[in-house]
Amino acid sequence: MPSTNLPLSGVPRTMLMTTRARVEEHQRDDGLFRDPTIAEWWPTLQWDEALDSMYNPIAQLTWAVRAYLFDQIVQRHLGTYTDATVVELGAGLSTRYYRVGQSCHRWIELDLPEVTELRRYFDHESDRHRFVSASALDPSWMDTVPDGLPASRLIIAEGLLMYFEKAQVQALIAHLKQRFPGATLAFDAVGGVTHGQGSKQLARLGAPLKWFVKNEADVVAMGLRLMEVRSLLQENCRYRDRIGIFRWVPWFSQLPPLRNAGLVIEARL
Ligand SMILES: C[S@@+](CC[C@H](N)C(=O)[O-])C[C@H]1O[C@@H](n2cnc3c(N)ncnc32)[C@H](O)[C@@H]1O
Repeated sequence: MPSTNLPLSGVPRTMLMTTRARVEEHQRDDGLFRDPTIAEWWPTLQWDEALDSMYNPIAQLTWAVRAYLFDQIVQRHLGTYTDATVVELGAGLSTRYYRVGQSCHRWIELDLPEVTELRRYFDHESDRHRFVSASALDPSWMDTVPDGLPASRLIIAEGLLMYFEKAQVQALIAHLKQRFPGATLAFDAVGGVTHGQGSKQLARLGAPLKWFVKNEADVVAMGLRLMEVRSLLQENCRYRDRIGIFRWVPWFSQLPPLRNAGLVIEARL
């Protein structure tokens, strides 16, 4: 039997933090979403204490807001396309399918083998909800995406691309454009200002951030057509009453380096 105590390392290890953020959001009376599925899985997962130094209320809010923004993208997409296919690259233990995706025609959760093995321990695969064990950087996963209207495909990369080298991101986008022209790519990117303490801690955990953008013009230069761009810091500010430290931030979040510290980008391939 697979174990939930699989020793995760490198980037896969980071998904414990984003998972915990969703559990705690679910538990809040004023949470942005309910996520009973991850709350049910969580007690069986083993928290990694080495992540304690990176996990705090601001990080929790940021990852919850980010998940909520991606949920909204999915809801809009499923409202437009009845035969949609959604692919989550670097899905971790995403439970978005259960939160907002069950009307989807086909949903694919893709992650590296150790994480997909963990998912299989908790989750049940079906024709509609597939699990793919692969690197997003190996384009052969694209063969698992069923035929369909190009525009009906939504590919999500939440908390993933910043761990790749710029050339790897560029190559992935080029492959996606070639295979799924007209599809939507939704992802987040980090700005140079994130080269701080958090970035150093991630590097010590074996998950260094590698791809930084100045702003969304950098992804336009990679051949993407922008649909919508949201600043994570500006979105966080909507909920600043939850965290006193944000009281002074709304004005500063208009400054480009802070506005661009974390961007959630929806783009046409
Ligand atoms: C920060 S976690 C985000 C997980 C999930 N998207 C979320 O927001 O909860 C990064 C995820 O990317 C996965 N990952 C890292 N490198 C990958 C690769 N080359 N291909 C696919 N997944 C990868 C990790 O295993 C991990 O689950």
